[in-house]
Amino acid sequence: MNLKGRSFLTLLDFSEEEIRYLLDLSKRLKKEKKSGIKHDVLKGKNVVLLFEKDSTRTRCAFEVASSDLGMNAVYIGSSGSQMGKKESIKDTARVLGRMFDGIEYRGFKEETVECLRDYSGVPVWNGLTEKYHPTQILADFMTIEEFKGNLKGLKFAYLGDGRYNMGNSYMIGSAKMGLDFRMVGPKELWPSEDLIEKCQEIARVSGAKITLTEDVAEGVKDCDVISTDVWVSMGEPDSVWEERINLLKKYQVNAKLMNMAKSDAIFIHCLPSFHNLETKVGLDVYNKFGLNGLEVTEEVFESTKSKVFDEAENRLHTIKAVMYATLYGDN
Ligand code: CP
Ligand code: NVA
Repeated sequence: MNLKGRSFLTLLDFSEEEIRYLLDLSKRLKKEKKSGIKHDVLKGKNVVLLFEKDSTRTRCAFEVASSDLGMNAVYIGSSGSQMGKKESIKDTARVLGRMFDGIEYRGFKEETVECLRDYSGVPVWNGLTEKYHPTQILADFMTIEEFKGNLKGLKFAYLGDGRYNMGNSYMIGSAKMGLDFRMVGPKELWPSEDLIEKCQEIARVSGAKITLTEDVAEGVKDCDVISTDVWVSMGEPDSVWEERINLLKKYQVNAKLMNMAKSDAIFIHCLPSFHNLETKVGLDVYNKFGLNGLEVTEEVFESTKSKVFDEAENRLHTIKAVMYATLYGDN
């Protein structure tokens, strides 16, 4: 398996074997880091991290992974560069490609990250767009394997907003890796017909099962893993909160819902999460709508079933594997 020179924009571009390889490489790199074995095989390389949206996990994972691999990382936020304002993405891509060995992009449109890939001449990694969040899925699947031992046939329910980056990417990843995946939420927020069809087609080959349902009990029954995401994503206007709450409140992950899954089911969440009033947004929503937990309750979030911080740590190991594989290859 050699992924050297490849970009990582969506799991749709990767085969089951390639995803398997990245997960196994992540596990190896995690083990090496924990036992103090250095893997700074990319000494002298430079990568640039473009963040048009905020980030804690993804940014830190790219920065720490770069350092562990021996590379230098340059962070560029939503202001401070010419990109998209005085300079087109196409020109920016060609400039960055002359200076850097790899480019990470977090922002809005798929077209932006595709343009960076098409014009920079170096590997480009999607650190989240409106449509996809592929590095998150690697971390989530790695975490699931750590707790459940395998992915094939595993019953996995995702509740909430299905048509955005996390919903889309979970469905794709599950189709590729052979999970029994349930998208549980209102039809209005299901992925596009086109993507559902694509995933059903992939599932026919991998043996995955893809179910979309509005019925919580049907979707969650006997599940091994339960996941959700925020109800309003970065870049969406505050004005959608009311409508989103009305659509999604019955899909909140609470103790009653967790009890419908297997007794040893785990809970994962890409984070950040609104589960109490300790955030500005959480408090604003509470003051307006009276809800003190949104997509997940404090009780579930803080329970032993919740593996969200193992998952957050695995962002580092999986992002490192993506950079290692696409810049260093199988040397
Ligand atoms: N899960 C995730 O992408 O988190 P950040 O927004 O903190 O990067
Ligand atoms: N759907 C969320 C994911 C955050 C990691 C967002 O786009 O804000």
